[in-house]
Amino acid sequence: MAEDLSTVSGERYWEEFYRGRRDAWSGKPNSLFVEEVSDLTPGTALDLGCGSGGDAIWLASQGWQVTAVDVSATALAFAADHAAAAGVTEAIEWERHDLAVSFPSGRFDLVSACYLHSPVEMPRERILRSAAAAVAPGGTLLVVGHAGFPSRSEPHPEIHFPTPQEVLDDLALTAGRWEVKRSDFVTRQLPAPDGEPGTRPDNVLSVGRLAG
Ligand SMILES: C[S@@+](CC[C@H](N)C(=O)[O-])C[C@H]1O[C@@H](n2cnc3c(N)ncnc32)[C@H](O)[C@@H]1O
Repeated sequence: MAEDLSTVSGERYWEEFYRGRRDAWSGKPNSLFVEEVSDLTPGTALDLGCGSGGDAIWLASQGWQVTAVDVSATALAFAADHAAAAGVTEAIEWERHDLAVSFPSGRFDLVSACYLHSPVEMPRERILRSAAAAVAPGGTLLVVGHAGFPSRSEPHPEIHFPTPQEVLDDLALTAGRWEVKRSDFVTRQLPAPDGEPGTRPDNVLSVGRLAG
């Protein structure tokens, strides 16, 4: 019988997820993330729910100074190994936080949350509001998330993925202090290891905190 996930902590769920997945690391950053960040001037970045570090390591290779956070110590250990192999150890600080409980200190030129979803309890809206508060003047908050299930999987109509507008509304940003840089649905091509192509709908929200 499937375990009742309502009783499982985020730490336990994600530790079990990452254990034994060392070889599953693609080494690649998220394509939508790269699309949005490539034109920004490197500065300080905070990557929330960094997993095994693909985005953080890519940022570091582009000259960013990165703080990367995850609830899973195992994911962070994998990520640190990959960062060492990529020669960017000095540019990344790995911090373990259950973002439901604690949040990294400081202000950052870029705060990103890529696919910060969890099948176990996680106060995503509250975490994203803290993410917005951590953006420095002139900086960017980037939220990339799923907008639905992969084309090849069973739909689960009981699960709601927030639209970019819902994510924006939940951020409750102060009027006149932010600009929406991108708010979009995107259909992403999925890798087809068995030769059968698939797609997944995603959404992208990028907002900039106005300088001054
Ligand atoms: C779907 S994965 C995405 C990982 C990575 N950002 C990527 O795009 O490949 C979600 C990540 O969020 C992390 N996470 C889930 N709940 C968390 C929490 N409460 N605090 C911190 N990280 C959390 C998980 O450990 C996992 O690495």
